[in-house]
Amino acid sequence: MDAPLDRSFTPEALDALAGPTITEHGIGGAEALRLWADVLGPACLSVDHPRYLSFIPSAPTKAAAAFDMLVGASSVYPGSWLEGSGAVYAENQALRWLAELAGLPPAAGGCFVQGGTIGNLSALVAAREAALQWRGRRPERWAVAVTEETHSSVKHALRVVMDVDIVEVPGDERGRMTGAALRGVVADLPTEVRDGIFAVVATAGTTNVGVVDDIAGIGAVAREHRWWLHVDGAYGGAGLVAPSVRPLFDGIEAADSFIVDPHKWLFAPFDSCALIYRDPVLGRAAHTQQAGYLDPVTVDGEWNPSDFAIQLTRRARGLPFWFSLAVHGTAAYRAAVEQTLTVARAGAALIREADHVSLLVEPDLTVLIFERIGWSADDYARWSARLLDEQFAFVTPTRHHGQVCTRFAIVNPLTTEDDLALIIDSMK
Ligand SMILES: Cc1ncc(COP(=O)(O)O)c(C=O)c1O
Repeated sequence: MDAPLDRSFTPEALDALAGPTITEHGIGGAEALRLWADVLGPACLSVDHPRYLSFIPSAPTKAAAAFDMLVGASSVYPGSWLEGSGAVYAENQALRWLAELAGLPPAAGGCFVQGGTIGNLSALVAAREAALQWRGRRPERWAVAVTEETHSSVKHALRVVMDVDIVEVPGDERGRMTGAALRGVVADLPTEVRDGIFAVVATAGTTNVGVVDDIAGIGAVAREHRWWLHVDGAYGGAGLVAPSVRPLFDGIEAADSFIVDPHKWLFAPFDSCALIYRDPVLGRAAHTQQAGYLDPVTVDGEWNPSDFAIQLTRRARGLPFWFSLAVHGTAAYRAAVEQTLTVARAGAALIREADHVSLLVEPDLTVLIFERIGWSADDYARWSARLLDEQFAFVTPTRHHGQVCTRFAIVNPLTTEDDLALIIDSMK
């Protein structure tokens, strides 16, 4: 472990340690840096710590992290081809690699955005716009089919941002959406609700339990109804590079849009989400902003990342990922993702073998959700706080079907089977 986990502080503690930092004449570089290094930095958890296993961690390569500093310092504007052609060219190569892994056609493309939240929202807005164009009319209410395990960002985008209804399809015993369940739910819907559906979201690696939906089955139903198939691979999409799990993603080649966050399981720093459209023309139709002052960059045939998502000014969010991929090569990515899968499988075996814990869902990827038999919510909370307090690990409780439990999300190739064994032992 080359860095501590660190911890969060209360605002009062930070007031006492740091105090006011914004002053009329400035505190100077040396003092501001000292404050960061001694007080503020250590008050932020190290998400790339090998025993940070909560939420979805991040484990950037040194190359990606270093290049991120260069991106920040270089005043490159990569929103338009005119201003940032070199950066956009490089980002597009990284997008192409991802599109090819998914089996999307050569014309597929898109851009990098802040994170899965904006990626999902941008894709669904493009889906609705495309439906409006080909239908030529609005239904009474637009709707999208999802499952209980679909990420909160998708549901938030639909409900709060887009004002779209949600059709919830029950998951199978592991929480996966299947084509059969989707077909069954839709058949029972009132005609006006069915008529409003314009897209279905398949998740390739659910956040809480890490399973991959039946993308091929869902895609078949989507095609029958001419719905847009969006695949949210924010976390799990990285598994496309790993031969041992690639078959789980079969059907993704039919996706109309697909996202994967390099800041999750593809070793890039925050914040970076690759958003790829099968037909980028549809993304552009929904998202290109029009204004006289933008005419010089709104040029036919030029690839403007700003045209494909809810964003205008943007940071070259794909460049740290591109740089690391260019430096290390794709084989290193394959090996690193396989390494985390190997450790996750070993962790699952440890949980199966131990008497005091029990796996709640058989894993597809690198999320392990499990319970400590006999524990209450308070027990989990105390244990989790103790692990962090002792700077031993960061593992938080979660809920599965209303039951409090915990989970490991393993995206760091430096996490070992021993790390998992020690944490599992700490629950005895
Ligand atoms: C499956 C999935 N989709 C979307 C998101 C949201 O991504 P972000 O936090 O990058 O906005 C997450 C985040 O964990 C996720 O796991």
